[in-house]
Amino acid sequence: MTRGKSVLIGVTGGIAAYKAAALTRLFKKNNWNVLVAMTQNAMEFVTPLTFETLSGNPVITDTFNRTTPLYGTMEHITLADTVDAFVCAPATANIIAKIAGGIADDILSTTILALKKETPKIICPAMNVRMYENPATQDNMALLKKRGFFLLEPEAGELACGVEGKGRLPKEEVIFAQTLREISEKPLNGKRFLVTGGATMESLDPVRYITNHSSGKMGVAVAEELWKAGAEVSLISGKESVPSLMVPQQFVESVGEMKEAVLKTLKKRDTDLVIMSAAVSDYTPARYEPQKIKKEAGDMTLKLKRTPDIIESIRNEYSVPIIGFAAESENIEENARMKLKNKGLLMVVANDITQTDGGFRSDYNRCYFITKENNIELSRMTKHEIGARLAAFIADYYSKKR
Ligand code: PMT
Repeated sequence: MTRGKSVLIGVTGGIAAYKAAALTRLFKKNNWNVLVAMTQNAMEFVTPLTFETLSGNPVITDTFNRTTPLYGTMEHITLADTVDAFVCAPATANIIAKIAGGIADDILSTTILALKKETPKIICPAMNVRMYENPATQDNMALLKKRGFFLLEPEAGELACGVEGKGRLPKEEVIFAQTLREISEKPLNGKRFLVTGGATMESLDPVRYITNHSSGKMGVAVAEELWKAGAEVSLISGKESVPSLMVPQQFVESVGEMKEAVLKTLKKRDTDLVIMSAAVSDYTPARYEPQKIKKEAGDMTLKLKRTPDIIESIRNEYSVPIIGFAAESENIEENARMKLKNKGLLMVVANDITQTDGGFRSDYNRCYFITKENNIELSRMTKHEIGARLAAFIADYYSKKR
């Protein structure tokens, strides 16, 4: 949650202008003060009233509103001075060209020109694919990047004009998360992490499998919070995990596949730290039946064998620090401490999986951060908040190592 921050959203004249309403709402929901500036063309698509209602603030549309100036007598300067971030969504080829050329001929372009150098500026291009790929637009965007603007890549898909291609405005959650990353001090800048999440699935036959209740939410939250803190993150998730909108994610099925994917990633690139939040099966069927097992009269006994321990496999080949998770139903601290020692972990994030208002599948969890020296009990909070605490713990670990 970001308290007391303020963002200026610039809305320009493209069909995706209506999506800026959902973006305004999302910032508001996260307690940001939202100011909206619209171009004349944007007002052909959506009305200022929409943004006024959603933001709770007057909308800026006119440079020469002398009778009732909304934000001081020199609105563009006051606005540019006060906001913590600027987001242009959607950004048309026209506004991108204007910013590149230093043109200031309406309230939005004038305010952009007056923004402070250090204010994060996120530009979200959305337009027809040919307009997007046009060398003029591409050159203008390259220039903006060079000047410190962040250009969020549009999504590919069906465009409003009916053609397929790159040019769709990314989801509001993606724009919001990118803004959080841009305003962050990025304490984990330059660090590379590998995160696992979700449940493994061990097949018995082509129909049945053994799994657990993990949804992958914890892994996604941890990976995204590390990314927001400036890190580069690879996420390896169980096949049925929730997706991440922000972090590259590889889906795997069994323990064996997860182990292979983890080791391959570690081999491919230097990794500073591994976070194992995946709920990995300790057993797999002793034998996979290639044909569907037929039911018979009476009970059935399943023979299971042990799966490889992924953390142990990492340990055998790499000296990378590892943070493990422990899902416990009793003696939480004692059991977690045993895992900390036996698995040679930097820290164990222990959670009580009997809790009814958190844990598996929930957006919330209650955890303990257990290290050799400490046991920090966290109150009930969202998995993203836990991820942010973990990012802070890791940043602190690196600052002490220096
Ligand atoms: O996905 P969610 O619905 O959001 O739920 C989150 C969660 C409850 C699954 C998560 O917070 C959690 O507790 N994950 C770890 C679950 C677990 O497998 O704990 P464990 O105590 O069995 O394993 C200890 C550690 O060893 C874990 O880091 C695990 O990834 C690792 N392990 C386990 C078995 C194995 N064969 N190899 C491993 O590396």
